[in-house]
Amino acid sequence: MTSSKSEPPTFDTSVAHQARVYDYLLGGKDNYAADRAAAEAALKAWPDMAAGARANRALLGRMVRFLAADAGIRQFLDIGTGIPTAGNTHQVAQAIAPESRVVYVDYDPVVLAHARALLTSTEAGATEYIDADLRDTSTILTEAAQVLDFTKPVAVMLILILHAIPDDDDPHTIVARLMDAVPAGSYLAISHAASDLLGQERLQGVEDAWRGRMQQQITWRTREQVARFFDGTDLVAPGLVRTDEWRPDPGGSIRTVAWAAVGRKR
Ligand SMILES: C[S@@+](CC[C@H](N)C(=O)[O-])C[C@H]1O[C@@H](n2cnc3c(N)ncnc32)[C@H](O)[C@@H]1O
Repeated sequence: MTSSKSEPPTFDTSVAHQARVYDYLLGGKDNYAADRAAAEAALKAWPDMAAGARANRALLGRMVRFLAADAGIRQFLDIGTGIPTAGNTHQVAQAIAPESRVVYVDYDPVVLAHARALLTSTEAGATEYIDADLRDTSTILTEAAQVLDFTKPVAVMLILILHAIPDDDDPHTIVARLMDAVPAGSYLAISHAASDLLGQERLQGVEDAWRGRMQQQITWRTREQVARFFDGTDLVAPGLVRTDEWRPDPGGSIRTVAWAAVGRKR
């Protein structure tokens, strides 16, 4: 989003926000000077960060394809939607199964401003957008129940969002609450920035670049910490692996520094 828009934004654009930084890294236009400065500063410490963002977006498409085509999932709760771009969850799912129902959740005002672009469902399916914080699971579950049938399997998608939840806010309990609300046979899909893949020097470089610039505190986690989110599920092949190793398409990508897995609730 550029400052040339006639209506001034109603939020602080002088602080970078991860939805807009991610948008910039993906080549989008819905970002402000502070977001671009934060992204450029981090790219100095970790030049592959933009390629990592693209690899994550590609992973999201592969995961939705797997869930819709192979696992037969028709209901998606996609939390941490991001600013709409190519290959949004409902487009990928409804291209495979037009009756798919998708509920998006994000708390970024720019994502909210673009939410209409996500509400372009096929006639047979449905899409809805909830403006909420992941930590507010009761609002998310109550509002999502207007579109999703929680007696039938749901894919809960938390793609590159959980690093925005610090340990003090107990992300494992948040995920458990969401998974408690869905029946056996539901799925959990996660990708997560990996402290044990990035390396201490680059990790420190990104943290230094973002200190004081970013609205969110970023918590990188180890493979073991990410694995714990999947308690109560059976991981589908190939298990918990680097993003680029999760059911890769031909052509490949860079070696990513994020963990990814899909688990099926027992
Ligand atoms: C890096 S983007 C990922 C977007 C998308 N899932 C993808 O993988 O392409 C993370 C998104 O999560 C959202 N987010 C971060 N913390 C959140 C929270 N506590 N509640 C809701 N949304 C959150 C951000 O606003 C942003 O849009």
